[in-house]
Amino acid sequence: MRDEKAMLEKLIEIGNMMTSIKNIDILMERILTEARKLVNADAGSFYLCDGNFLHFSYSQNETFQKSLLPHKKLIYSTFTIPVDLESISGYVAINGQILNIEDVYHIDQPSPFHFNPDIDKKSGYKTKSMLSIPLKNSLSKVTGVLQLINAKDQNNDIITFNDQDIPFLKHFANIASIALEKAEITRSIIMRMIKMAELRDPKETGSHVNRVAAYSTEIYEYWAKQHQVPEKKISHQKDLLRISAMLHDVGKIGITDIILKKPDKLTFVEFNEMKKHPQIGADLFSNEQSELDILSAMIALRHHERWDGTGYPGNLKGTEIPLLARIVSIADVFDALSTKRCYKDAWSLELVWEEILSQSGKQFDPELVNILCDISEIILSIKERYPD
Ligand code: C2E
Ligand code: SIN
Ligand code: SIN
Ligand code: SIN
Ligand code: FE
Ligand code: FE
Repeated sequence: MRDEKAMLEKLIEIGNMMTSIKNIDILMERILTEARKLVNADAGSFYLCDGNFLHFSYSQNETFQKSLLPHKKLIYSTFTIPVDLESISGYVAINGQILNIEDVYHIDQPSPFHFNPDIDKKSGYKTKSMLSIPLKNSLSKVTGVLQLINAKDQNNDIITFNDQDIPFLKHFANIASIALEKAEITRSIIMRMIKMAELRDPKETGSHVNRVAAYSTEIYEYWAKQHQVPEKKISHQKDLLRISAMLHDVGKIGITDIILKKPDKLTFVEFNEMKKHPQIGADLFSNEQSELDILSAMIALRHHERWDGTGYPGNLKGTEIPLLARIVSIADVFDALSTKRCYKDAWSLELVWEEILSQSGKQFDPELVNILCDISEIILSIKERYPD
């Protein structure tokens, strides 16, 4: 088999990289990519545990990815299954051990679980070998299940996962679990911060900030690929942006509910009050201890600047506005238009696109308007993923 020393060195390197990632979505992407590389798996999925349920949260598929244009991303739908012994991932979550299946359609031993062929039917993929790895937190509670699918040999033929890899994968799972737990803590602190800002109903707020953050990272990734930004930098920036973008409106904590929840149009005086939220938000991060603080302060401060220089608070114009603030701005407005607010109904998507296009070069950076249109499919799949 393989060079054990090289594998261990690789594990240490992966560990260092993973524990520096702050955001769960970016982390799942890295964990799955690295795990697939370790055992040469064609595809993989990530399930996250939430009480008695498993959320199918993230997926990769090299065969499908290869059939897409290079800048296109795989779109998959998420679903939720109960934690019970009937599904493979449920069984592994309960059992807590790695499970190596040669062929999911021909499970020999009598077993309580079976593979749900609907997943393949929906995607048109043929799952055969499957290695399922439980991820456990520091209290030994299973927090997620990593599923690696279809191991390949040098000729890209599907083979069974090698049992000899399992000890390495156990180490890998430990490292991934620690990183995941850290990211969970960061996420829950941030969600608490956002709930305290209590923009509206906390549930609605959660969806809004998640959508704005997810739109923003997709726009940034596309922009960065077009501008030949190195892969490592993209991944790092996405991780920070995902969190900073969620915090863009945290300064609304300083705005009275009477204005925030007003069902009608704001008066001139009220709107002037509202215009203080970018500065209030930026001040929350003013100690600027970390890259994340610096970026969060910048995005809070600049997300209402406009390309034509008529925004607030600084009347910055064009590329004087930092790229990531220009990105959050268009993501925020796309979301404000396409969903219901206390002061307005949701617009039809047709009207939303019309408005976004008409604001190219006025409210928005024209390049980002083009990008948003190019990735509209991904944007709409995110909108479905985080409904109000
Ligand atoms: P928000 O609801 O998250 O809206 C974010 C931004 O979406 C707005 O920032 C604005 O740039 C954009 N937006 C909203 N409606 C339209 C539209 O019809 N056309 C275009 N092109 N853009 C639109 P803005 O205006 O600086 O407002 C900041 C925040 O102030 C809003 O955040 C909302 O919380 C509040 N707000 C703004 N207008 C009103 C209003 O008439 N009534 C109430 N109650 N709140 C308002
Ligand atoms: C799995 O069980 O992990 C795959 C999906 C299913 O069979 O329900
Ligand atoms: C920042 O990192 O503060 C801004 C990044 C950018 O505008 O590209
Ligand atoms: C950047 O390269 O990060 C910013 C460039 C721009 O503002 O367009
Ligand atoms: Fe805002
Ligand atoms: Fe907003």
